[in-house]
Amino acid sequence: MTLPIERFVELSSVEETKRLGERIFITKFQSPRIAAKVSAGQFVMLSFGNMLDPFLPRAFSVCDVVGESLSLFYVAVGKGTSLLSELEIGDSVMLNGPLGRGFPEATSGETVWIIVGGSGMAIIPIVTKSLNRSDTKYKVFAGARNARQLVHFDLVSSVDATDDGSTGYHGTVVDLVKSLAPKEIPNKIFACGPTPMLANVQKDFGSMVPTYLSVEAPMACGMGFCQGCPVKKKGSSECYLACKDGPVFRSDEIDFGRSSHSK
Ligand SMILES: Cc1cc2nc3c(=O)[nH]c(=O)nc-3n(C[C@H](O)[C@H](O)[C@H](O)COP(=O)(O)OP(=O)(O)OC[C@H]3O[C@@H](n4cnc5c(N)ncnc54)[C@H](O)[C@@H]3O)c2cc1C
Ligand code: FES
Repeated sequence: MTLPIERFVELSSVEETKRLGERIFITKFQSPRIAAKVSAGQFVMLSFGNMLDPFLPRAFSVCDVVGESLSLFYVAVGKGTSLLSELEIGDSVMLNGPLGRGFPEATSGETVWIIVGGSGMAIIPIVTKSLNRSDTKYKVFAGARNARQLVHFDLVSSVDATDDGSTGYHGTVVDLVKSLAPKEIPNKIFACGPTPMLANVQKDFGSMVPTYLSVEAPMACGMGFCQGCPVKKKGSSECYLACKDGPVFRSDEIDFGRSSHSK
């Protein structure tokens, strides 16, 4: 029997917004029902109440949960994220979630490598807290264009790479991880970031290590209704829906062909 998935549409008020880097913010919302149910890798759809512009909700991975609050980490690149960064304490948005399939549970004693780039850094707090609870060892590898776009979270250390070499390894985060393997091999890899990064993680590690990729496809509904977020199934002409079947897929389930969109 399939159990009903608990999902809520919750009016959520802003508790705090912090600027973490160049155009990078984290906003904390009072959202008790979603915070109580979300797991690592799941997302919410955020809408700005009755505003017509932006009309469509935006998807955000849940970054962290503390008590009845949840945080969203975002790069202010367009209309939705700029508006979000300008909200004041006490302003409200509508959050719909938790949505989608997150990362799998890890087993005590396993080692997980977490590879993130750009806004994919959002998953670091929630994933590392979940791995701490299951007593799983992990290493975080974080990539950004430059030092100003690289973010560090409290209590989590990362091995860093920047495209311009302004801090950490000079090159992509996938090249950084390749420089360590095969001397070290984890039991699992979790990755979140731009599609070219995920495609390289799939190519370089997918056949070597159980690898889980959190994909970003444009989403209008987030719940499997609009068919707007196709991700090509590997070895098939059919597609998954990123919002319902993902956003986390096992690397051997998907193909970054023409139906997968880049960030
Ligand atoms: C499952 C899922 C989880 C997501 N989680 C996060 C998250 O945790 N944090 C986050 O910041 N975003 C996340 N996104 C992306 C997010 O939904 C928005 O698309 C993105 O933040 C831009 O929204 P916007 O309204 O500001 O930009 P829009 O006004 O929709 O777009 C403006 C322009 O910015 C470009 N653009 C869009 N996204 C990016 C980007 N990431 N980098 C550079 N240019 C871009 C667009 O191509 C467009 O030209 C996620 C998406 C999905 C599907
Ligand atoms: S966003 Fe509507 S089906 Fe996935």
